[in-house]
Amino acid sequence: MLKGKTAIVTGGSRGIGAAVADKLASLGVNVAVIYAGNQAAADAVCAKCKAEHGVEAKSYPCNVASFAETKGVVAAIKADFGTVHILVNNAGITRDGLLAMMPERAWDAVLDTNLKGAFNMIRHCTGLFLRAKEGCIINISSVSGLMGNVGQCNYSASKAGLIGLTKSAAKELAPKGIRCNAIAPGFIRTDMTETLENGPLLSMIPLGRMGEAEEVAEAAAYLATAKYVTGETIRVDGGIAM
Ligand code: NAI
Repeated sequence: MLKGKTAIVTGGSRGIGAAVADKLASLGVNVAVIYAGNQAAADAVCAKCKAEHGVEAKSYPCNVASFAETKGVVAAIKADFGTVHILVNNAGITRDGLLAMMPERAWDAVLDTNLKGAFNMIRHCTGLFLRAKEGCIINISSVSGLMGNVGQCNYSASKAGLIGLTKSAAKELAPKGIRCNAIAPGFIRTDMTETLENGPLLSMIPLGRMGEAEEVAEAAAYLATAKYVTGETIRVDGGIAM
């Protein structure tokens, strides 16, 4: 059902984004991998998708926080692939710190990347989805956006904001055949969480372990095919946010 479609995965050079790109490619989806700085890593993800799954794959540098850059990159991807069917807004950062001491730049950087970045990409892809009369948007939120977390006011606000964005976009675009859903991962073993691996947080996870990026990618693949699901947020969190 997905074979021959094209997906954009932001922050696709490593971690969850790389796993999502690989999973979609394994289902026959061509992938445009957006990366912030590490071209070698993004190219390696693309090379693996091409060699192992026989799909088209290409990497594009772009700061998702920039309205102008995202407009340019979507135009470049359209020129290369023809159109886009699936958008995975995965790029995200943390700048943790207690609220009382949080620098303004830590708030702005996180909101600009995690929330405005998703808006920018949706804004520029929606014209393509409307013309194609189909589209699937998947926003990678977080359990931090559902539960809140000490030291993460900026991050939880951005991730809760993504859930609101998901629901409004889902309502607005549903009549046009475009679906929009979110995934709220818990603690997933990636570069972002390497300091947490043996910490006390593990005891709070009902399933007793951190998740793997591939387990988030499974949910993305499900949402890409779930034609009657929109406006939903799926937790992939070992039960931590129930
Ligand atoms: P990561 O740090 O390994 O990867 C994030 C990717 O986003 C990197 O490739 C990075 O270059 C890219 N990126 C960052 N800023 C960017 C920008 N301005 N423009 C373009 N790309 C940019 O993180 P990980 O763990 O793979 O996380 C992926 C997503 O999942 C993030 O949105 C994160 O908030 C979310 N998430 C991760 C969890 C975890 O436990 N690892 C838990 C819940 C949510």
